[in-house]
Amino acid sequence: MRQENLFLYDEIKDTKVVNVASVPQRSPFRYPGGKTWFVPRLREWLKSQDMKPRILIEPFAGGGIVSLTSVYERLVESALMIELDEDVAAVWEAVTTGNANWLANRILNFEMNHENASKEIVKPTKSIRERAFKTILKNRCNHGGILASGSGFLKKGEAGKGVLSRWYPETLAKRIREIDLHRNRLEFRKEDALFVIEEYMNDPDVVFFIDPPYTAGGKKAGKRLYNYFEVDHEHLFQLCSELEGDFIMTYDNAPEVLALAKKYGFQAKPIPMKNTHHAKLTELVIGRDLGWMLNINRVLENQAKYKVQKLNRARKKSVIDIS
Ligand SMILES: C[S@@+](CC[C@H](N)C(=O)[O-])C[C@H]1O[C@@H](n2cnc3c(N)ncnc32)[C@H](O)[C@@H]1O
Repeated sequence: MRQENLFLYDEIKDTKVVNVASVPQRSPFRYPGGKTWFVPRLREWLKSQDMKPRILIEPFAGGGIVSLTSVYERLVESALMIELDEDVAAVWEAVTTGNANWLANRILNFEMNHENASKEIVKPTKSIRERAFKTILKNRCNHGGILASGSGFLKKGEAGKGVLSRWYPETLAKRIREIDLHRNRLEFRKEDALFVIEEYMNDPDVVFFIDPPYTAGGKKAGKRLYNYFEVDHEHLFQLCSELEGDFIMTYDNAPEVLALAKKYGFQAKPIPMKNTHHAKLTELVIGRDLGWMLNINRVLENQAKYKVQKLNRARKKSVIDIS
């Protein structure tokens, strides 16, 4: 039996998309490609570890929901967040080094309107915390929260409210102050994800949640959304194959990604999510052993052209094994 045909799926009626409204929103960012929808799975994965991991490493941290959730819910001892984008990094640097209250107050005292926001965004910044504030402004005022250069301000926004559509100062201040309460267990470094993965390669007490920009196979989504989008995906997969600690990766459900997973002997499983336009899509979870996902509803996979095979009951319980 050819392994690549073992792409399992159940009836479409089983398909369930996580209702993100049921997941606590902890990040101060509205992040393109954010993984709030993945939080219920994240909990299952971390709880399935033999011992509580010492460190969760989030090498492509972005909005950081995975690190925040893991630390707040004590699923790990601590988290290490890595991000290359200078604007995003400024927020994490500010809030993990004692500037959370300053940032929260700056947000609360800002009079949001199109004119003030436009002026603020072009002002040069002299400190990390000022840059952090500017990043939060841009993230709230730009279309889709996109911070990549070239992204523009919301003109109409929700109900014609323009830049006010996504400006919730009290909520933002509360989330930022909450991060401050946990900052002794949160570390941030502005570095290249791949270097840090390599640094912790031989440490069995760490786990990695890896969510790179989706650019494998020349896909464009990641290029439009992030200033840093170039990743050597093959090298990333190769590093993962050498990790002592457990890891999971999330990726777009593309043939190039499945081919890499297969090459390195990993398992892959499509899981449903909704994009910002509420279209139902699937993304791939990739790992060494996805046994912890056995009870998660399977999903009809539209993109892949794999044959369905009649499999025995035991096999049906299995996730896709494309090794
Ligand atoms: C898909 S997003 C991560 C989203 C994140 N998981 C969340 O829930 O918000 C990928 C992130 O990786 C960052 N990035 C890209 N290349 C990187 C690199 N070499 N090292 C560290 N971060 C990088 C991008 O700036 C972007 O924020």
